[in-house]
Amino acid sequence: MVRFLKRVGKKVFARLKILASGLRGAGKDGSFSPDADPESYKQAAIDYPGFLPPDNRYYLYTKPFDSIKNKKDSAMLFHRFASMLEIIQLPQRAKVLDVACGPGWLSEFLARSGYDVTGVDISPDMIRIANERIRAVQFACRDHEALEAHFIVGDTETADLGSDLYHAAIFFDCLHHFPNPQATLERVFKVLKPGGKLYIQEGVKPPPGSDDEKKLIEEIRRYGTLEKPFSQAELFELLKQAGFVAIQAYEAIQLIVKRKGRAITPHLADAPVPMTNTILAHKPGGSFDSRFANVLKADLRVIGQAPPQAMAAGTDIEIQLSIKNTGDSHWLSKPQPEGGFVSLGTKLLDANHCLLAEVLLRTLLPFDVAPGESVTVLHRFSAPATPGRFWIKLDMVDEQVTWFEDEGSKTIEFPIQVRTPG
Ligand SMILES: C[S@@+](CC[C@H](N)C(=O)[O-])C[C@H]1O[C@@H](n2cnc3c(N)ncnc32)[C@H](O)[C@@H]1O
Repeated sequence: MVRFLKRVGKKVFARLKILASGLRGAGKDGSFSPDADPESYKQAAIDYPGFLPPDNRYYLYTKPFDSIKNKKDSAMLFHRFASMLEIIQLPQRAKVLDVACGPGWLSEFLARSGYDVTGVDISPDMIRIANERIRAVQFACRDHEALEAHFIVGDTETADLGSDLYHAAIFFDCLHHFPNPQATLERVFKVLKPGGKLYIQEGVKPPPGSDDEKKLIEEIRRYGTLEKPFSQAELFELLKQAGFVAIQAYEAIQLIVKRKGRAITPHLADAPVPMTNTILAHKPGGSFDSRFANVLKADLRVIGQAPPQAMAAGTDIEIQLSIKNTGDSHWLSKPQPEGGFVSLGTKLLDANHCLLAEVLLRTLLPFDVAPGESVTVLHRFSAPATPGRFWIKLDMVDEQVTWFEDEGSKTIEFPIQVRTPG
């Protein structure tokens, strides 16, 4: 009885501390900055399932299927899950850590997708539900019946999660609950294998004073949990500080493309872009390729004939180049609609080196190029259609990712004088 009273007293005290400090809410600059004692936020996360109204508690067993009325959130979670599988590209039976797994819906889906999943959560209630959910699944997928996932009750910052163990760790809608996200990411960095992947799916930081921010403050008031979302720049900085490399952000566009007659019209420009922080990062030590590149650097040299200095407008120019991969990422050469392959591109500059155009036509590489390897290509492009003095800049492109120059790689530039034809 005394122990029970002590425990209840501790919970009430933790809640009062949050109300007293966290809900001071606004920081000095007027921004939202919950600042209660970190331990009280953790205690609130432990207590959270016990404070939920019955239908919200029931959802812990059915997630991602929400109510019959609310199909929007379910659809969103299915899209997020499918996109994550495509982006993260794990080998079969990869070991995956589902950080702050909650009721384990994601662990269940990942296990059914053939991964060896461990979920960790600070709340014993959540882990009990996650275990119940896994045990209740009768059929896993077509090649294995028994569904297995392992769950650990613990604070991610301190729990014994091993080291160099996992191919990937996933933070799905949870990093904003951690009072010390830096320490948490550093901890997870250690448990990943060299080259291991970290996937973050998070909401975005709402504008100060917005309704979304008010909802967060209300959530803290009601449950005492920490709700502190990040901007993309903050997440990148945290990841870099924790040692992650090849950090890449994704846009969440949730759409099925409309077919107009025989043509598929993506309407990407009009598609609603839900605001989200979707990020893939890597622990160094693995091998990178141009889909998830780390260092992209090239040494370009003209071989054979030097580029012509003067030519008629619109004439074709051919230059032979030797290109060495001096970065650490494998260049993929095969064109893919989603990009991530490397080619050679041209930029047209005016006489003052100001960019006039990025020429769309590229020269493809004849094969994949590993770090340290070289390739020879014949690069063709057309001189501008109008007379004048120009500069041509040649640079490598990681298609739909970046020009190498933007990553600090050297380019080749040469002047051309274009005259009227004839
Ligand atoms: C919004 S829920 C998300 C759960 C799950 N990822 C999902 O998509 O359903 C956040 C979870 O973070 C857990 N959590 C909060 N702080 C934690 C910590 N320090 N260590 C582990 N889990 C934590 C909570 O218990 C809760 O289950």
